[in-house]
Amino acid sequence: MNINVRKGDVTEEKCDLLVVNCFEGVKKPEGATGAVDEALGGKLSRYWAADKFTGKLGTSFMMHVDGDLPAARVLVVGLGKKKGFTVEAVRQAAAVSMNTAVALGAKSVVSVLHGAGEGELTPRGCARAMAEGVRLASYKFSKYKKDKTKTPKRFDIVSTDGRVVRPAVNGVEDGEIGAIGANFARDLVNTPGHEMHPEVLVETAREIVKGKGTLKIKVYNREKLEKMGAGGILGVAKGSDFPPYMVHMIYKPAKPTKKKVALVGKAVTFDSGGLSLKPSGSMETMKVDMAGSAAVLGAFSVIDRLSPKVEVHGIFGAVENMPSGRAVRPGDVLQAMNKKTIEVLNTDAEGRLTLADTLSYAVKQKPDAIVDLATLTGACVVALGEEISGVMGNNEKLAKQIMEAAAGAGEKMWELPLEKNYRKLIDSDIADIKNIGSRWGGSLTAGLFLQEFVGDTPWVHLDIAGPAFAERPIDPYTKKGATGHAVRTLLEYLRSF
Ligand code: BES
Ligand code: ZN
Ligand code: ZN
Repeated sequence: MNINVRKGDVTEEKCDLLVVNCFEGVKKPEGATGAVDEALGGKLSRYWAADKFTGKLGTSFMMHVDGDLPAARVLVVGLGKKKGFTVEAVRQAAAVSMNTAVALGAKSVVSVLHGAGEGELTPRGCARAMAEGVRLASYKFSKYKKDKTKTPKRFDIVSTDGRVVRPAVNGVEDGEIGAIGANFARDLVNTPGHEMHPEVLVETAREIVKGKGTLKIKVYNREKLEKMGAGGILGVAKGSDFPPYMVHMIYKPAKPTKKKVALVGKAVTFDSGGLSLKPSGSMETMKVDMAGSAAVLGAFSVIDRLSPKVEVHGIFGAVENMPSGRAVRPGDVLQAMNKKTIEVLNTDAEGRLTLADTLSYAVKQKPDAIVDLATLTGACVVALGEEISGVMGNNEKLAKQIMEAAAGAGEKMWELPLEKNYRKLIDSDIADIKNIGSRWGGSLTAGLFLQEFVGDTPWVHLDIAGPAFAERPIDPYTKKGATGHAVRTLLEYLRSF
């Protein structure tokens, strides 16, 4: 599907579905919607009144045109209330139009640019939100399905005002980058554990880097990890028949820069819990446990198109967490790459063991900032629910930057405290630290555990356990399944340099 922007008049557009809009509570269509109503001899407003269409966000009204216009059908999408209108409404309204187009099997869609000029909203911002909404809504994981849904070939955004075309073209490019990156991550997360094992993540990273002058990759196999002392990654991998790897991707901008950030992702391709086995219900979606690395890979998949002005390092330790006669036992002690010893009391708290190594490795790259992303704790889902990530860190400024990036990207995140007084909860009797705290505040003790491996480097940890995978539909562009959560936040953060 191509998303295009051009000058055009909706009353003259030939297409399968013509999309206009209206705010909630508006009785008489205005602007482009008014022009369409006029061309239809007032039928549009009469029918929508008869249908009691309110213009509420998430709803829409459709009618067949029958020759009065070149378009075959008109869809009016609700934008919600004018007061408090944001780009999120634009994203959702555009997604509704896409969902309708897919349901109808429409090949060509022409839409007005929703919302531009309302309050602070710019043509660029609105076009970006539309591209995000449309591209994210069109996503479907149909690898194992006979019936493949057909998405439209063209989605054209038109405006009678030629001056908005250029900023809107740039906005569509901004939106496409984020949505394509997120959809890339969704495919990786949706792919089941038997196919998405550590080696596949390595191959995915190699594919991304291949043929791109700005990208490089280093891959460490078991032998190399042993030499490096990556006891966390190796320990978790012991129970699996799939060998572990550590991947390090490097993006260097065309114009050299001194600024450097490291993105570190949890990459447990399947988390059975290990010997501290999960109940089977909790295991059903544990292919999600590499979503942190999928977010890093998603961002890297579009990084040359974004071309940020900062050096970016993408790092993850790919493992599978399985029980076996060779698996790490509760009570075992591992030594991480930074030499700290860890008493493993619960083999299901495995993400932090792998991150102990990848964070230690990230620190050695001397970055100005480390952002880690991990489906780390069920406790974070208990605290913030399924739609909001937990944000923790050792540097207020960096946490603020990430929170701002998340707000700009339209992803929900909330800061949690790394309470110093809780540090003693992960003191071990026999090692430097243990891998579980008490029953309470599990996300915070996990965050405090990670902090032991970042030293003084500014660092922020995103616990994405809730929003990485939608157990039910969340909004018009987030269907059931992997969400690609945090990819757009990462890209927004990289844009800020
Ligand atoms: N991968 C899980 C966390 C998770 C839970 C991700 C729900 C996505 C959805 C993690 O490895 C885990 O099992 N954590 C344990 C930690 C506990 C043993 C201290 C948990 O949250 O129960
Ligand atoms: Zn686990
Ligand atoms: Zn896990």
